[in-house]
Amino acid sequence: MRLILIGPPGVGKGTQSALLSSRLGVFPLSSGEIFRKEIEAQTDLGRLANSYIKHGELVPNGVTIEMMAKRLREPEVRKKGFILDGFPRTTRQADALDEILEEMDLPLSGVVSLEAPEELIVRRLSGRMGCTQCGAIYHSINKPPRREGFCDVCNSPIVVRSDDQPETIRERLRIFKETTAPVVEHYQAKSMLTRVDSTQDPEEVYAAILNALK
Ligand code: AP5
Ligand code: MG
Repeated sequence: MRLILIGPPGVGKGTQSALLSSRLGVFPLSSGEIFRKEIEAQTDLGRLANSYIKHGELVPNGVTIEMMAKRLREPEVRKKGFILDGFPRTTRQADALDEILEEMDLPLSGVVSLEAPEELIVRRLSGRMGCTQCGAIYHSINKPPRREGFCDVCNSPIVVRSDDQPETIRERLRIFKETTAPVVEHYQAKSMLTRVDSTQDPEEVYAAILNALK
């Protein structure tokens, strides 16, 4: 499987990518998650990325494309297939991805646009917590961890993301509409897009994604 999950912040891309990768053995590639690891490790790329992410802005195309191209070329990714979550997010990134995949002779299985109304998205982001180590995603109401403050999977502390503050959430949603919505059109125009209702519970969304890829 070689899949792109596209959709606004908080719609459930990371949640579905985790289900798909753990159940189907496909390699998850989240640009946001990769940036967060770089920030944690205090690399130059992490410092650069953080200066944008903390304001809810996009990291520049050049470094983002270079970083994702490197990951896509890893042998394990070619072998297992991939779920792209959060990339591409600009039409320039989408054009670059088309070129990379063509050069690697790896056609996409599909592009799924996860969709939900903005008020639901804001509720989901307002209660979200994530594991500092394995990236597992929780929600204070929808998916609380078994032990408060600690990850069910690896027992590490779970935290609220620094970009999940109300003002930053609004900026991320604005940028999605302005800059990422045209990427949805990019794949629609290529007849590769399926829209999936992400207001349903995670298992129903999962089933709808698999159905879309049949
Ligand atoms: P990124 O990490 O990609 O964040 P995002 O797109 O804003 O999306 P989120 O991770 O916030 O939401 P999600 O859709 O994964 O939802 P989740 O599954 O967690 O990017 C972060 C930043 O990095 C960007 O702002 C940008 O600065 C930078 N960046 C990343 N990629 C870039 C790129 N390509 N170019 C430039 N810059 C880039 O779910 C949210 C919550 O809802 C959770 O609590 C979850 O438990 C709950 N939930 C999920 N699904 C359901 C459901 N079906 N029912 C009930 N609850 C649910
Ligand atoms: Mg995510």
